[in-house]
Amino acid sequence: MPNPLQAKSIALGVSGSIACYKAIDLASKMVQLGASVNVMMSKTATQFVSPITFASITHRPVATNLFDPKSEISIDHVSIAENSDIIVIAPATAQTIAKLSLGLADDVLTTTVLASKAPVIICPAMDAHMYDNPVTQHNLSLLATRGVRIAGPAEGHLASGLIGMGRLIETEEILSHIRNVLGINKGLLAQRKIVITAGGTQENIDPVRFISNKSSGKMGYAIAEAARDQGADAVVIAAHTTLQPPTGVRVIDVQSAKDMKTAVFAECEDADALIMAAAVADWRPKNESKSKLKKEDKTSLSIELERTDDILAEINRDNLIKVGFAAESENLLKNARKKITSKKLDLIVANDITVEGSGFGSDTNKVTLIDSQENISELDLMPKYEVSCQILRRVASFLENNSL
Ligand code: CTP
Repeated sequence: MPNPLQAKSIALGVSGSIACYKAIDLASKMVQLGASVNVMMSKTATQFVSPITFASITHRPVATNLFDPKSEISIDHVSIAENSDIIVIAPATAQTIAKLSLGLADDVLTTTVLASKAPVIICPAMDAHMYDNPVTQHNLSLLATRGVRIAGPAEGHLASGLIGMGRLIETEEILSHIRNVLGINKGLLAQRKIVITAGGTQENIDPVRFISNKSSGKMGYAIAEAARDQGADAVVIAAHTTLQPPTGVRVIDVQSAKDMKTAVFAECEDADALIMAAAVADWRPKNESKSKLKKEDKTSLSIELERTDDILAEINRDNLIKVGFAAESENLLKNARKKITSKKLDLIVANDITVEGSGFGSDTNKVTLIDSQENISELDLMPKYEVSCQILRRVASFLENNSL
């Protein structure tokens, strides 16, 4: 799956906020990801950062003035408007937001937005009182109802000395929004709902103790990010993970296998695919104690366990693509194949947890993908995001075949 920014044309509007310096990092990351970036600056923005800085990073002229005869693209804002895949305004001041909500076109940035049909992301950055002002709030909701994505702001220390809402969101978060919006327009999973489970369930013994496993949730979250980047409506059902939820992904927190089953069945009512990356407990204490178990004078303790329901085996809906994981320490392929049949899967992701750099907690994984037709692909050790792209590419092709 290609990186969603590769070969895309991005118009970056920079308006006059102290956060302008962060837009330099953003422009640089977008260029590194293969995008061609046209920067448009408001007049005030040029007082915070010189256009030369952006020109050096993007290797393209910077538009600062609608009618500057010396500027190559000053009169060519219409071509930026027409040829951009996306317009990102970061930072967006209260003033620029107000102009955009009114449809004013008095500089290169606002004129380009007005003249373009490309999707727009606005990343507000301003003082907390300006952001809280009902006028700004009204302008932002007006823009949102017209389909503009409002990304941020974040809460924190502001240049005014106040602590509150108004900080420009971080570069990585802006990039996540860009990937998501680009994916919604053109991604392999646009218009698809993908449900992903992540983490390890916890089964209570008593109010302070539980039985769990080593799953970190990294694989499930990586799949969710990659699905989002391909335009999917990605929903994660997460059992115990300390990871930050990915931007643009809905996360439903659950604790036990039973909670996860309820959430999976509810979310799969209208889903296109279910990817069960969670390590679901196979056993739970038969009788959860309502009070804390005391040692007293016992020298040993037995806890009777009962089976949990097998979520993946039990969910069977027409046209729902089912992907399972098989984390094995021996007989990898044999065990994985058995699970394809017993759980009626379209695809299984088999990983040998004894391989270095593979399995629980690591950022990489080495897996073999096996589909129900016995097609086997043994993948190299790679980052979990890349593994996710490989899985999703197959999911996208199953979905395409379903709709033929
Ligand atoms: N799974 C599930 N519900 C369970 C147990 C597992 O939906 N109660 C899912 C997992 O999320 C995974 C797949 O089934 O996608 C295989 O899980 P795994 O633990 O490897 O297999 P089990 O069926 O539990 O068999 P075993 O533990 O004996 O290998």
